[in-house]
Amino acid sequence: MKELIEKINKLKKEKKAVILAHCYQNVEIDEVADYVGDSLYLSQMAAKTDAEIILFAGVFFMAQTAKILCPDKKVLLPRLESGCRMADMISLNQLREFKSKYPGLPTVCYINSTAEVKSECDICCTSSNAVKIVESLHADKILFLPDTYLGKWVEEKLGNINIITYPGFCPTHLQIRPEDIKAAREKYPDAQILAHPECHQSVTKLADYVGSTTGIMKFAAESDKKRFIIATEKGVVDRLKRDYPEKEFILIKENIICPNMKWHTLIDIYNSLEKEEHEINVDKEIASKALGCINRMLDVSASGVK
Ligand code: 13P
Ligand code: SF4
Repeated sequence: MKELIEKINKLKKEKKAVILAHCYQNVEIDEVADYVGDSLYLSQMAAKTDAEIILFAGVFFMAQTAKILCPDKKVLLPRLESGCRMADMISLNQLREFKSKYPGLPTVCYINSTAEVKSECDICCTSSNAVKIVESLHADKILFLPDTYLGKWVEEKLGNINIITYPGFCPTHLQIRPEDIKAAREKYPDAQILAHPECHQSVTKLADYVGSTTGIMKFAAESDKKRFIIATEKGVVDRLKRDYPEKEFILIKENIICPNMKWHTLIDIYNSLEKEEHEINVDKEIASKALGCINRMLDVSASGVK
């Protein structure tokens, strides 16, 4: 593995490439990654980089977003199989049908959506800025898609807005049930329970903290507690265990794994960089409309706007 890591790092230098890795990736990928984090952080890094090649160790929509933000750069996805099952739950036609039932309402899409879907939404958001983005619209009623649970969690946090959600969901996070949280509380009464907002509301309601993948890692790092139950994908637990060996991290239940995130291996990354495949491209017209949607999010996210 050490040899492979060295070869990738050498290739990266030769090709002026940068590797962005989501924190659900196989943990050894961090050894070659320049940036590791949640989807907001990675899109901010993609927007900023002056590298010539961006290799995305993440799912398809993330690489697509990087290409939209950096149309002149080559964006590579090591394995094309790595789509997001939630993003694939809404097509452009389904979006149009959803919007036609509620004409005139502002439409917010989760970044976990295709470029086509983003191109017909007003603004997008990630799990770490969803509350701020929705609040910035100053609306009484909005449409939110594709994640119904993230949308409902935002509605509950804000309390003064009606969020009509599309019935999409993350199959990985929906494996976590309220019974799992209750059992963990009973078994580890001293532990803090940290959950991702893609979990069902009956789960997030019982958690001590709800936030993005980076939010969860930051919370655990800063807490003076010693034991944490993690209700999100296993990659977060792997990184927490590596970075804070003095604390204990327990995955809420076995096999909370996003199979799509786990497609990429170090060998795939090497092959991808070497052969410069698989290049992600986005239709120019779609990309320019989707860019507006993404940039509005990045602007609000960077501002102090309420
Ligand atoms: P984050 O925004 O927390 O990185 O989440 C992305 C994701 O796909 C979670 O399932
Ligand atoms: Fe998509 Fe769920 Fe995997 Fe995140 S965990 S990439 S939402 S399928």
